[in-house]
Amino acid sequence: MIPPSLPAELKAALEQQLHGLPRDAAATRAGVISQTYRDGGTSAPIRTPTDALAYAGARMPATYAAVAASLNAVIGIRPDFAPDALLDVGAGPGTASWAAAQAFETLGAFTLLDANSALRELARTLAQDSRLAKANYQLGDARKLLRDAPEAALVIASYVINELDDSARDGFIDALWRKTADTLLIVEPGTPAGYARILEARARLIAQGAHLIAPCPHENACPLQAPDWCHFVQRLPRSRIHQQIKGAELPYEDEKFIYLAATRVALGPRPSRVLAQPELTKAAITAKLCTSQGLLRAVAPRRDKPAYARFRRLDWGDTIEPDAAQD
Ligand SMILES: C[S@@+](CC[C@H](N)C(=O)[O-])C[C@H]1O[C@@H](n2cnc3c(N)ncnc32)[C@H](O)[C@@H]1O
Repeated sequence: MIPPSLPAELKAALEQQLHGLPRDAAATRAGVISQTYRDGGTSAPIRTPTDALAYAGARMPATYAAVAASLNAVIGIRPDFAPDALLDVGAGPGTASWAAAQAFETLGAFTLLDANSALRELARTLAQDSRLAKANYQLGDARKLLRDAPEAALVIASYVINELDDSARDGFIDALWRKTADTLLIVEPGTPAGYARILEARARLIAQGAHLIAPCPHENACPLQAPDWCHFVQRLPRSRIHQQIKGAELPYEDEKFIYLAATRVALGPRPSRVLAQPELTKAAITAKLCTSQGLLRAVAPRRDKPAYARFRRLDWGDTIEPDAAQD
């Protein structure tokens, strides 16, 4: 399991770069880029080294935290997963590659694909003294590069699918899956639209024989009924520079994200997943669970001390064995 904060090496490299940038300029560019994302736009406004740095300063800690949490969920279900190669598609500043390198010491080969030359340059600068220094970072449209990219045990597409046209998504998911020797991880913003994209990818992957590692404990239809939807939240620390670039006062932020981890390896029964922060009242703790049998509101009454103690430790996104959920 890896922490949600940037590895010290990456934090130091990023802050060293940010120190050379006038804080106001970085904050202004980061504001424009973030607003574009909030309006449903893409990374297209990131054109210069300053843009790339402003983007990374503002967003890399949060997207890293979301990928770290997703990889932790994978490890929780498959503790023996030991990939040797990573393919990071839409890699940007290399965020997901850093998280995967932290999570899996076994990773030796890193291939990154992205169309943005400013982000690629920044990724290479940030990684120059790290394990990722020898990564093969290819520049171009991932839909084309994927044709000749090497297969990898772990393929990650982090905060990328939202940047593709509706018409390009299905082909992109298929191409990601073709390159997946073992596990594919897709991470998207934790919005209803992000959830909808994950649902589409989920259906497509299951139709091609994928088994789901997380968050879903089954391959049945998603049991949530609109307007209900699924996402998770990861809290992460904000450094001083991160706060300044975001014009934020709190020393932490909560990143909302949704993810899907799918594998070619058949899986046995999987534990239930906690879909919201459990509700605590004087009488009981109630947890909303996605189980292999569908949705369950599991209640641990205070008088049932073992069950209550178990539910007290539960957080949004955690897993719980089905037996324990029946208590
Ligand atoms: C929001 S950034 C995410 C970067 C990184 N994966 C992360 O999690 O921090 C989206 C990235 O996808 C890249 N991207 C979007 N569409 C692409 C395409 N068709 N081909 C290659 N890269 C693409 C953008 O250039 C950008 O670097």
